[in-house]
Amino acid sequence: MTHIATTKYIALSSFLANAARDERIPAGLIKLIESVADACSSIATAVERGVFDGASGNAHSENIHGEAQKKLDVVSNDIMMGAVESVSCLRGLASEELESVQMTGHEHSADTPDYLLLFDPLDGSSNLEISGIVGSIFSVLAAPATDAVLDESHFLQPGVKQVCAGYAIYGATTMFVLTTGYGVDGFTFDGESASFVLTHPQLQIPENTREFAINMSNERYWEEPVRRYVRECVAGASGPRQTNFNMRWIASMVAEVHRILMRGGVFLYPRDNKNPQLAGRLRLTYEANPMSFIVEQAGGMSTTGEMPIMEVQPDHVHQRVPVILGSRLEVERLLRYHDEAAAA
Ligand code: F6P
Ligand code: MN
Repeated sequence: MTHIATTKYIALSSFLANAARDERIPAGLIKLIESVADACSSIATAVERGVFDGASGNAHSENIHGEAQKKLDVVSNDIMMGAVESVSCLRGLASEELESVQMTGHEHSADTPDYLLLFDPLDGSSNLEISGIVGSIFSVLAAPATDAVLDESHFLQPGVKQVCAGYAIYGATTMFVLTTGYGVDGFTFDGESASFVLTHPQLQIPENTREFAINMSNERYWEEPVRRYVRECVAGASGPRQTNFNMRWIASMVAEVHRILMRGGVFLYPRDNKNPQLAGRLRLTYEANPMSFIVEQAGGMSTTGEMPIMEVQPDHVHQRVPVILGSRLEVERLLRYHDEAAAA
């Protein structure tokens, strides 16, 4: 087997140093991003080794959303917290697996900006038992420049305020995908150098697609504009779209978004009336916002159906939101269908 020298690829640490030099990221953020990336490579190992380390199966506990936690959900959360807690610019964190936000105890420094980290440590964890694709998602917000004690209210910033977002995917390869507002770059974990290296610079989502992703078993609960959209896709070449569509559902948002970044597509977890008291299935602050930032930075679009996801003002850190995102022309079409239904 021929090995291609990975030295031809730029390492994440050099990429970040260059980006800071060119003022594409604040220098103070580098340590935090590197610590998150380190945590992700450790989570990849934990996922791979779960069965040997006694970490497979259920933790016999529930998270704040009432979902059964897997042991690896808890392990991944501990890995992420352990990796970032000592980063001095990080003042607080929020996680899907923690009931309330936690402060790190680091004091505000007058010289450098402070940050807040929000994350879903192991997305799509129902895929673990089938050795399917899982991932981690994270979002970074600026912390207020104050010596005062911080609390959940400081995390309740709309997605447009994110300074950085990304995800790691644990699939056939482990990748780390990042934006600081200057496009989206993808790094592949190279086991030989034990580092992430830049393999997918400046990813762009094709504006057109013939692929959609939605959990079809919820069809009877969907809102009408989404039913219309999917009905027309399924009708294929003999329907109003006059072309055949393909459907994919991996049940891991990281995997769906990654596929869309690689080849286009549209992903929907829309508002539905399955649990009318919930706005949607996915979580705004640590799932929908970071993925929307990534998608929009790659030329795609993201919406609740009514407004851009990143403009939603969060009321609490575990809030849910309807999600429609991906290739721009399809998301625009879905928005049009929502507008038409509202006007009817
Ligand atoms: O985190 C929630 C999540 O696991 C997403 O990653 C995924 O897109 C979705 O839920 C899967 O939902 P369902 O269980 O309806 O297939
Ligand atoms: Mn998740």
